[in-house]
Amino acid sequence: MDKYRIAVIAGDGIGPEVIAAGKQVLSGIAELDGGFEVEYTEFPWGCEYYLDKGEMMPEDGLEQLEGFDAIYLGAVGYPGVPDHVSLSGLLLKIRRGFDEYINLRPVKLLRGAPCPLADVSCEDIDMVVVRENSEGEYANVGARLYPGTEQEVALQTSVFSRHGCERVIRYAYELAKAEGKSLTSISKGNALGYSMVFWDEIFAEIGKEYPDVPTQKFMVDAASMFFVKDPKRFQIVVTSNLFGDILTDLGAAIAGGMGLAAGANLNPERKFPSMFEPIHGSAPDIAGQGLANPLAAIWSVAQMLDFFGREDLGSRVIAAIETLLLEKRVLTQDLGGTAKTHEIAPAILEILKR
Ligand code: NAD
Ligand code: IPM
Ligand code: MN
Repeated sequence: MDKYRIAVIAGDGIGPEVIAAGKQVLSGIAELDGGFEVEYTEFPWGCEYYLDKGEMMPEDGLEQLEGFDAIYLGAVGYPGVPDHVSLSGLLLKIRRGFDEYINLRPVKLLRGAPCPLADVSCEDIDMVVVRENSEGEYANVGARLYPGTEQEVALQTSVFSRHGCERVIRYAYELAKAEGKSLTSISKGNALGYSMVFWDEIFAEIGKEYPDVPTQKFMVDAASMFFVKDPKRFQIVVTSNLFGDILTDLGAAIAGGMGLAAGANLNPERKFPSMFEPIHGSAPDIAGQGLANPLAAIWSVAQMLDFFGREDLGSRVIAAIETLLLEKRVLTQDLGGTAKTHEIAPAILEILKR
């Protein structure tokens, strides 16, 4: 029997609450399926670990994670540790260190999920955002000059490499081709005359290899407007690291909220483990109260199952989430219910067993 070894970094704030639910669902599915086992190894890394040890994870953290089939991550960052320290010491280190250059973020309005937009149906909001995840605006190259003086300067340089742009854009074309969907590139060539013009050129160049994939391109400002005014324009979307970050919180807002938005950080070559996580943060405002919605974390379990080649099970998890939303019996507060975080996984498993 296949055994999947999963490294769990529950992390900070609501991370441990939602990850507990996701693990329960994954273990329950393994049991129902009978065809594979899962084994979790917990890593207590995060802000508390930092306050104790002075680092977000041990120096050999990546080596410790390297042999796993997947990483399941909750959230990183908490008041008390500066965000740039906590995130660059853990989440971003893993994304970069394991060359997880694809960040796959579905923006799909399930039936029963709340949507703040007027006159849209579920079919209208059904996209996958392919976010570049290894460089771009997040390369974190820069400097501070003359700190504390009137001449103080901060420099932050984006890095757009041909290799980096080509591989994410090609991945998105392949996905659009495989699914028979259109591909939209979102950039900002009118103002960012080096990086984004380069991106646009590569999008056009690679497009020649995919004459059957219908394409469009938008500036990120117009794209944000269309996410709200006319989301059905978008099917597969490819964009840079920062634009993808911002657009997928907007995507979450139109597709049920932060409690439903999942993301997979993929190393498609499988040279390194890929990482699955809800896209939300540690939500300090609701942490420790049982208010967190674990459906995003559960949805990222579906993405993990897809990545393991069990798309059949991944789809069943999404279908179970949809049933839960439609039945409205067991939902957390953000979705208009009164259930606590820990009640969601058992409800999902009950649906899966029907
Ligand atoms: P956030 O996503 O944590 O919270 C934004 C809002 O959404 C809050 O009102 C929160 O209560 C709500 N929310 C988020 N997830 C929810 C859930 N599952 N159920 C119900 N409501 C939910 O963003 P933030 O407040 O900007 O960031 C808080 C911390 O998390 C910061 O340290 C930030 O750097 C970090 N962060 C980490 C990640 C990550 O680990 N992937 C992602 C985003 C932010
Ligand atoms: C996300 C988060 C991270 C990002 C932060 C916490 C660094 O917002 O996963 O969307 O910007 O990628
Ligand atoms: Mn984000």
